[in-house]
Amino acid sequence: MTQPLDAFTYRDGALHAGEVPVSEIADAVGTPTFVYSADAIRSSYKRIERAFAPLGAHLHYAVKASSNLHLLSLLREQGAGMDVVSGGELERAWLAGTPMQDIVFAGVGKTEEEQRAALDGRFSPLLNDAARLGREGIEDRGPVGLFNVESESELEVLATVAAELGVVARACLRVNPDVDARTHEYTTTGKEENKFGVAVARVPELFAAFRNEPAIDLVGLHVHIGSPVRETEPYESAVKVLLRLIDTLEKAGDSVSVLDLGGGWPMNYTQDESQGIEAFAEVLVPLLFERAKNGLQIVLEPGRSILANSGILLTRVQHVKEGRLKRFVICDAGMHTLIRPAFYRAFHFAWPAQVEAGHVPPAALEHIDLPGLVPSDIVGPICETGDFLARGRDLPPVKRGDLIAIFSAGAYGMSMSSNYNDHGRSAEVLVDGKRATVINERQKLSALLETERTPREL
Ligand code: LLP
Repeated sequence: MTQPLDAFTYRDGALHAGEVPVSEIADAVGTPTFVYSADAIRSSYKRIERAFAPLGAHLHYAVKASSNLHLLSLLREQGAGMDVVSGGELERAWLAGTPMQDIVFAGVGKTEEEQRAALDGRFSPLLNDAARLGREGIEDRGPVGLFNVESESELEVLATVAAELGVVARACLRVNPDVDARTHEYTTTGKEENKFGVAVARVPELFAAFRNEPAIDLVGLHVHIGSPVRETEPYESAVKVLLRLIDTLEKAGDSVSVLDLGGGWPMNYTQDESQGIEAFAEVLVPLLFERAKNGLQIVLEPGRSILANSGILLTRVQHVKEGRLKRFVICDAGMHTLIRPAFYRAFHFAWPAQVEAGHVPPAALEHIDLPGLVPSDIVGPICETGDFLARGRDLPPVKRGDLIAIFSAGAYGMSMSSNYNDHGRSAEVLVDGKRATVINERQKLSALLETERTPREL
């Protein structure tokens, strides 16, 4: 079996995560449950690191892909810095042991409160809770290593907040290169009509305007054109835009020491849908090699490429309904658990966790051609027609109580899940070899109700 099922393999018809049959996990913690493979996380991280080693690139894991504290700690052990886009993600990254200087704070709408907490731990929303949550010393915490700033307004507010606190905010300016990443319109970020970044023509003016601002140290440029990017060409175009801009800035007397190329790095939801990360490195390393050698620090923010194929979602069939046109496999996971199919019409390979010998899938493919398959929609319990996990698939026979695995669910699965229709959020389990550990308990209904218990007057 090839990617994306590498970490999750069928043995005698039973799906395993590492050494552990996934049915044991579902029996122990129930469903829906996200299951991650520690080995897969380590190896995909290393693969990106290796591909960009000639540039000495710094990897900052994009926490939004999957923000469980234990997954962050695992990535810290591999040497990852963290890329965060909210005050909440910032606190998670820090709680997982990331030093502030290894955190990049991006995001188009940072509030003043979030900026303050990122500059001085005394303003953290966790000031009184951090020790209980496992990390000491929050009040002594200094500024994050880097802000990725998205607008002139944000630069102004950041300068004011940093000056008030008596610290210097180190920042990159996010550039909108007007390059089409050729991905879903909702995750395309580098076109002129997108809300992200500053137009190329405005960048030199902003560097000039903030050159003498003592509370801001504008050290470089940031770009992120979209996610996932399946072809190398859009990256190449964006990097070329940025390199020309660096030359312009340096001619004007500004020095540029950091180039943050964002995320969007490739991974496969179906076998071979994009080239490997090595193909991207092959194009980008030659463009950047001399500059990196001369001190330009290259930063990457991979999320999906590390986590997506390192996780699956386990869901149990509640009912099977034979429609006239197709069979509905009604599960306990749905758009509240994994919103990507509903929101982006994203494809996730899905297959029963226990199958007969003739029904082991050859790979993650859109169309599987095996005898005895039945056209099916895998749907959830939510009262919306858009609530589906997989549509128009040929699947082996399934019955009430069977387990289904939704593959490539490690990134933007749990992190985008919701409580819609008052379902608690899923459990999360990390498998490392023979060991399976619950790294997030299933959310209880009582936790959902807690903040509504006692009404109070304004
Ligand atoms: N850096 C920045 C500035 C980003 O906006 C993102 C993703 C990343 C890094 C990480 O990109 P990755 O390596 O994971 O592709 N919810 C969508 C994806 C949204 C991505 C948003 N930004 C999905 O499920 O497909």
